[in-house]
Amino acid sequence: MIDFILYDSVTSTNDLLKEKALRGAEEGTVIAALKQTNGRGRQGKAFISDEGGMYLSILLRPKEINFDTALITSMTAVAVCKAIEKVTRQKTSIKWVNDILINNKKACGILCESFICGKDSFVIVGIGLNYFCSEFDDKIKDIAVNIFKTQDKAKEDRLTQEIINSFFEIYNSKSFLDDYIKRSIILNKEISFIRSGKKIFARAIDIDNKCRLKVKYTDGKQELLSSGEISVNLKEL
Ligand code: BTN
Repeated sequence: MIDFILYDSVTSTNDLLKEKALRGAEEGTVIAALKQTNGRGRQGKAFISDEGGMYLSILLRPKEINFDTALITSMTAVAVCKAIEKVTRQKTSIKWVNDILINNKKACGILCESFICGKDSFVIVGIGLNYFCSEFDDKIKDIAVNIFKTQDKAKEDRLTQEIINSFFEIYNSKSFLDDYIKRSIILNKEISFIRSGKKIFARAIDIDNKCRLKVKYTDGKQELLSSGEISVNLKEL
């Protein structure tokens, strides 16, 4: 059952939901906010969370002991893409592993965090969406895009609902890999990534069934990259 709570402003929906989870909140608890004052992104970065966005966190309590947070990130990406496509009829793509793009600009970012506290374990799926920001912060204005061209509260609410429905459909069926690969813009492209402070160039050649990225280096060697270790830049789109 979905328990949905909407706030005007919070520090971070992920942090608030973590507190609720530690107090026993159930799987399916969703916290949403119109603004975050301390939104968090991947790799410890701040996530600009001004008004005009929708900031969502979903609580999961996976039954499997060895659940894979990277796969939950990937299934969330597919769920968000499908929901945006259904509600707005726009084409979406995924920049491995967690960015949702429209016209090659970022419309949504995802941060999944897993916690193990004694016998209690849970995952928080954080989703930050640009619904309709009249003006983006200078730091993101060249890379961000709005999902809606004008403010339309009814459509925004529909999309929020659709994302949650789409997420649980995919989470329960675990069927998303083909949909992920189909939308992936990085395959067969030259990419670069930072590892141990060094910039490395490679070609993205495949995504395996754990959503790891197979890359090929100029010397012909291949490697599987997992989402935690790198952040990919496309040299060309
Ligand atoms: C990224 O692109 O780096 C991931 C951004 C994830 C942001 C969402 S917004 C809702 C949830 N609460 C947070 O503080 N972060 C996530």
